[in-house]
Amino acid sequence: MLSHEDNELLVRVGPGTAMGEMMRSFWMPALLESELPEKDGKPVRIRLLGEDLVAFRDSEGRIGLLDEHCPHRGSSLALGVNGECGLRCLFHGWKFDVNGQCTDTPAEPEGTKLANAMRVKAYPIEVAAGMIWTYMGPKECQPPFPHFPWFDMPEGHCEAFKVIYECNYAQAIEGAIDSAHAGVLHRESPWGHEAKFPHEKDLRPKLEVEFTSYGLRYCAVRKDGDEGHARVTQVPLPFWTFIPSDGGNSPIFRRHRRLINAFVPRDDETTWHIQFFYDETHLIDREHRIAEAGTAHDDAFFKLVGNKQWYNQDREMMRTQNMSGITGIAAQDHAVSETMGKIADRTKEHLGRTDMAVVAWRRLMLKAARDMAATGRAPAAAAAPIDWSSVTAETFVFPLGETTWKDVLPLPGELRPDISSAA
Ligand code: FES
Ligand SMILES: [Fe+2]
Repeated sequence: MLSHEDNELLVRVGPGTAMGEMMRSFWMPALLESELPEKDGKPVRIRLLGEDLVAFRDSEGRIGLLDEHCPHRGSSLALGVNGECGLRCLFHGWKFDVNGQCTDTPAEPEGTKLANAMRVKAYPIEVAAGMIWTYMGPKECQPPFPHFPWFDMPEGHCEAFKVIYECNYAQAIEGAIDSAHAGVLHRESPWGHEAKFPHEKDLRPKLEVEFTSYGLRYCAVRKDGDEGHARVTQVPLPFWTFIPSDGGNSPIFRRHRRLINAFVPRDDETTWHIQFFYDETHLIDREHRIAEAGTAHDDAFFKLVGNKQWYNQDREMMRTQNMSGITGIAAQDHAVSETMGKIADRTKEHLGRTDMAVVAWRRLMLKAARDMAATGRAPAAAAAPIDWSSVTAETFVFPLGETTWKDVLPLPGELRPDISSAA
């Protein structure tokens, strides 16, 4: 349970909010590279952290990410003409380059210097792993662009996806750091039938949380005979989860595949659910992935089967095939989080032992936002160089009682939290 004040601090991400400012100190994935396929092509409207932006690729192939609204009288630049290295507003023709500099005001008197003084807000971008990334914080605090392990996959071994989660980012991420739901919500047999997988057989995982320099990691330990079955999930600030592969007993195509989630706030009530799938050993099949996730979407990235369709929940399927009667793992996650309401009221919840990682994550986020509001300094995780290749999510078995999951997967010294900033 959270107080109303803490809940508000956690969920509000617009400009000027403490949480929104904390998030703006990180680089974040914003849109798919494939949304801007060609030079001088159609601009794309994109809402991020409650801000309306427009992205475009200019005549040289450079990408701009600008405030959507023309500084003249506010029309959407997404209506504009994209050509000759700039985006020209449809209303009176003011033109802006990828840096936000105004380069032409054709309806103003000849010889006017107005354009020189006129700029529109422009955010820096980087392109990596099929995504266009941006940094929306103050220029003077811009951190180096992080280098994540999936950036280095050979062609076809990493794919990026996005779909809109129709609720606040915090409840979306809380669904991904709660291993206990895996054996229930995602159960691949009806309730009461024999369980198929370790996480379905032991419904009471023991959760342990460890704070780190980049956020936290937690392990869900389940009993599998005499052995411990461990799943370690990484939860970097401010909205990431690195999900382990399914490990040794799973179908071959799932054995080495790793899933990265970024729950990037679109605004307070909707979230970009961005996923990177990568697998060093196998090519990623995009169509299969979307079908498996149940996240087919329209051109604006809203799910085709969402809350309005009550997730096409099928009661016959619940009796004969799976627990949820919902097709697709991500669709199942979206259903339980979206039906909490657009913004969950955490003053009304009753938490149990399995919510331990959720509680730790909230503490971490609230502290990071409060610290930054008090000191003006971004969390260390935003700017410190982190060796992301050693931040891995893993599944493994180990002899229970003889050793612990931390012995098998120790946290490297340089990833221990700075004591002064630990939550
Ligand atoms: S509103 Fe854009 S040029 Fe006038
Ligand atoms: Fe889930």
